Amino acid sequence: MEEIVVKALGEAGFQPLIAAFYRRVRKDELVGGMYPENDWEGAEKRLRDFMEFRFGVSQRYLLERGHPRLRMRHMPFKIGEAERDRWLEMMNEAMDEIELTGEPRELLGGFFNQVANAMRNQAPS
Ligand code: HEM
Repeated sequence: MEEIVVKALGEAGFQPLIAAFYRRVRKDELVGGMYPENDWEGAEKRLRDFMEFRFGVSQRYLLERGHPRLRMRHMPFKIGEAERDRWLEMMNEAMDEIELTGEPRELLGGFFNQVANAMRNQAPS
């Protein structure tokens, strides 16, 4: 799945996708406020580096941030179903924007769904 996704993204890699995602997050009323207001570029770089690490493109995330431990790193934020759904909605819009379709889209979308679900740390009300 990693190879198929990386091949479909092509030369520019994850950069355009993550940029399109953060353009939405910055303006979002539900989850935008959780992100560090004075470090949007840093947040964008952390997600981009993580994706490059997870998909075998670069080791930068591991070298700079250590083992991902994503669930632990999301504990400071209240992530319930609504927050998870909004995050995924914005990522889906970002994947639409870069026109990722077909099998690579299914695979990457499935990956985001799975991880976002695991980040949920608030029981459904
Ligand atoms: C479910 C909804 C999610 C919410 C509300 C959320 C929110 C956040 C917030 C507020 C941060 C801190 C920003 C920063 O300073 O880096 C963060 C960090 C991060 N998130 Fe998420 N996130 C979600 C899902 C995901 C998913 C699905 C992934 C991966 C596919 C992901 C990957 C990351 C990474 C890699 C970091 C940086 C960790 C670090 O090195 O400190 N997040 N997230």
